[in-house]
Amino acid sequence: MNFSAFGRKLAGDSGILTLMDDLARPLPDGVPLYALGGGNPARVPAVEQSYRRQMERLLADGDAFENTIGRYDTPQGRLSFIESIASFFRTEFGWDISPENIAITNGSQSAFFYLLNLFSGDDSTGRRTILFPLVPEYIGYADQGIDPDTFVTLPAKVQLIGDHEFKYHIDVELVRSYLSDHPEVGAMCVSRPTNPTGNVLTDKEIDSLAALAREHGIPIIIDNAYGLPFPNIIFPEMMTGSAEPRWSKDIVLTMSLSKIGLPALRTGIVIAKPEIIAAVGALNSIIALSSGSLGQVLGESMLRSGELLTLANNAVRPFYRDRMNAARDCVYEYFGERPWRLHRCQGALFLWLYLEDLSIPTAELYSQLKERGVIVVPGEYFFFGREAGTPEEIAWKNHPHREKCLRINYSGDPDSVREGLRIIAAVSKKHAG
Ligand SMILES: Cc1ncc(COP(=O)(O)O)c(C=O)c1O
Repeated sequence: MNFSAFGRKLAGDSGILTLMDDLARPLPDGVPLYALGGGNPARVPAVEQSYRRQMERLLADGDAFENTIGRYDTPQGRLSFIESIASFFRTEFGWDISPENIAITNGSQSAFFYLLNLFSGDDSTGRRTILFPLVPEYIGYADQGIDPDTFVTLPAKVQLIGDHEFKYHIDVELVRSYLSDHPEVGAMCVSRPTNPTGNVLTDKEIDSLAALAREHGIPIIIDNAYGLPFPNIIFPEMMTGSAEPRWSKDIVLTMSLSKIGLPALRTGIVIAKPEIIAAVGALNSIIALSSGSLGQVLGESMLRSGELLTLANNAVRPFYRDRMNAARDCVYEYFGERPWRLHRCQGALFLWLYLEDLSIPTAELYSQLKERGVIVVPGEYFFFGREAGTPEEIAWKNHPHREKCLRINYSGDPDSVREGLRIIAAVSKKHAG
C-alpha cells in the first residue's frame, strides 16, 4: 500500500508516536508506577465539584441537556459560548474583540494543526516556514507540519541563577536578524507558559515579538494553555517582569479548558483577526464538522457567572503552586550538592531538570527509570527543528541541554512524586561524571 506524502509524513515514525507508544507499554511485573511523564493535569477537588454542580443544573434545566447533546454547533463554535468569551475579554481586559475574532476547536492541539499548516508550506511565493523563537519548546508541535522541513527553531539564551537554578531567555536580536534574512517565515509560535520548561515570557518579550511580527506582516501564535486568565497556572513570585494576558491584531492567542479540569471534553479557543478565524472555522468544518459542545456549555455558564475565574485564582493556581513547591523541595533534598539545576518554574505543570554531569543521554536514563517504574519525558523530544540549514537553524541539535534534561510532571500524588524523584536522583547518580 502506498501512502501519500501527507500520509508518509504524518502517519510515519514521529517522536511523539514513539514516546506515546512506549509510555503505554506495561511495566515489568510487580513494579509500582510513578507517573511523572504525561501532560495530564491533576484532579483538583474544588474544580471537579464545580463541574459536577454545573452538570446537575444542566440536567435539571428542562431540555437544556438534550439541546446540548442533540445537535451540531457551527464550525466556528457554539455561538453563545463565543459571545460569552468576547464579552468577557472586552469587559475584563478592554480588548477590541467580537464573536468574529473567536473560534472553538476540539482541544487546542487541533487548533495548532490548523494554524501551523495555515502559515507553513507552499504558497505562491515559495515554501513558508514557522519560526519557534526559543527551543526547548512543546513536543506537540514538532510533527504537525504537513510539508517537510518547515519548522525552524532558534536556541534559547541560558541565564544561570545561584547554584541550582537557571532560566531561558529569548534572544530577541537573533530573532530580529533571522526574520530580516528569511522572508519565507510565515508565522512565529511560542508557548507561554512554556511546556516543558515552565518559562513564562514577560510582557516585554511578548511585545518585542509582536512588534517584529507586525514589522514583517506575519502573526505570532501564543499558546496560552496554562496561562492567564484561566487556568492561571502561573507563579508571579518566580518572575522578575510582568506577564499579563496579551492580544492584538498581530497575535493569534490560543486557550484551552483542559488544564482547568476538562481535558476529556476537548475545548480549545482561538482568538485572532477575522480572516484567521474564518479559516479555522472552514478547516474545522472539513475535518470535524464542528467541535464538541459539552465543554462549551459548561464553560459558558461558569465564565458568565465568574466562577471560572474564581476557580482559576483561588483553587487551580494555589493547588499547583503547593505541588510545585513540594516537588522542588524534594529535588533539593535528594539531589544534594551534585551539579544539577532546575529551570525557574514560573508556570505550567513541569519541572525541567538539568543534570550537568550526566554521562548518558536522557533517552537512555528514561529507559532505566522506566525499569524502576518511574515515567518521565526525556529532554531530547523538546529540541526539534530543521535537519539541515544555517548554523543557527540546526543549533538545536548541539544544544548543551539536549541530552541532559528531564521533564517531570510535578502535579500528581505528592507521595508518588516524592518517591519518583528519589529514584531519579539515585539512578542518575550512577551515571554522574
Ligand atoms: C503547551 C501546550 N499546548 C497545547 C496543548 C494541547 O492541549 P489541549 O488540546 O488539551 O487543549 C498542551 C497539552 O498538554 C500543551 O502542553
